[in-house]
Amino acid sequence: MNSLTSALHEKLAQALAQVHEAKSVQALYEVKVAFAGKQGFLTEIMKEMVKLSKEQKPLFGKEVNQCKTAFETTYQTREGQLQEQELFEKVARDSVDVSLPGLKIPAGAKHPIYIILHEVVAVLSKLGYTVRTGPQIEKDWYNFEALNIPPDHPARDMQDTFYIDANHVLRTHTSPVQIHALLSEKPPFRTIAPGSVFRCDSDVSHSPNFHQVEGLLVDHKVSMAELKGTISFLLSELFGSAIKVRFRPSFFPFTEPSAEFDCSCPICASKGCRLCKFSGWIEIGGSGLVNPRVFEAVKLDPAQWQGFAFGFGIERMAIIKYGIDDIRLFFENDLRFLGQFSV
Ligand code: PHE
Repeated sequence: MNSLTSALHEKLAQALAQVHEAKSVQALYEVKVAFAGKQGFLTEIMKEMVKLSKEQKPLFGKEVNQCKTAFETTYQTREGQLQEQELFEKVARDSVDVSLPGLKIPAGAKHPIYIILHEVVAVLSKLGYTVRTGPQIEKDWYNFEALNIPPDHPARDMQDTFYIDANHVLRTHTSPVQIHALLSEKPPFRTIAPGSVFRCDSDVSHSPNFHQVEGLLVDHKVSMAELKGTISFLLSELFGSAIKVRFRPSFFPFTEPSAEFDCSCPICASKGCRLCKFSGWIEIGGSGLVNPRVFEAVKLDPAQWQGFAFGFGIERMAIIKYGIDDIRLFFENDLRFLGQFSV
């Protein structure tokens, strides 16, 4: 065996070892380029053939061809293995386990305040009430003065009212919308105003921001009986016809006479429970006939016009309807709480 032939076999053995060791199709391909590529080892060694004798040349050529075939065979086998292995790895990497449960997309739910508000609006719409809104930042005049709340009234106390400046407040109730309605609408009319109100107060049963619905009806002749009828209808629609309603004399500067209204406790059917403080009754809101001084403030003639007004808290309704005992839950936006109201 001449030195060229032994170099050839030595190199083939090396190349075959590299083929076995190659860890990827790419690495394997590089071995092939170096050994059998156009500018690879075999091409180079063929150039050395000139050094051989006439008899040796064809023998060496044959030898080179055999080496090439031997290399190709081993190469292809290894390439097949590596391709399969890479495919398996890719499939394992990208695989989708179709038996896994799908991702849960949580469905949104209406906020309980919104649900009740919507119900109240739906019931009173049946009685011909239109819905209106008013600004949450009010001039002192709308929130207090025009509602016959004099400057020294306790409701103006800094403890209760968020003042923006000497002349502007965050509305402490929805009653200022009565004034907006009286100034912009031609009586007779009936309207309700649901919305956010603000008071400087915070504990389990008080939130600095809560919601009220205001009702106002203006006509030539309006009686307490009509007011009672309207409130009773609303509460029986909301809590069921078994509910009883009672009116208690009260005082509001903007109504005269005034009454607070309660409903029989729907939780314990008036047997007595924590919610109704074992009285069988739950306070709902305030009401009364529009005080003539309010008509005067908006330049309507109290000799011609009468009205009734009522207002109540929506959170209170939700507390009763859903048996919720902490008002702060309505404002924390905890999805575990809100999710319970999805339909
Ligand atoms: N605005 C009163 C309150 O917030 C409720 C009310 C409204 C009373 C309308 C009488 C008439 O307490």
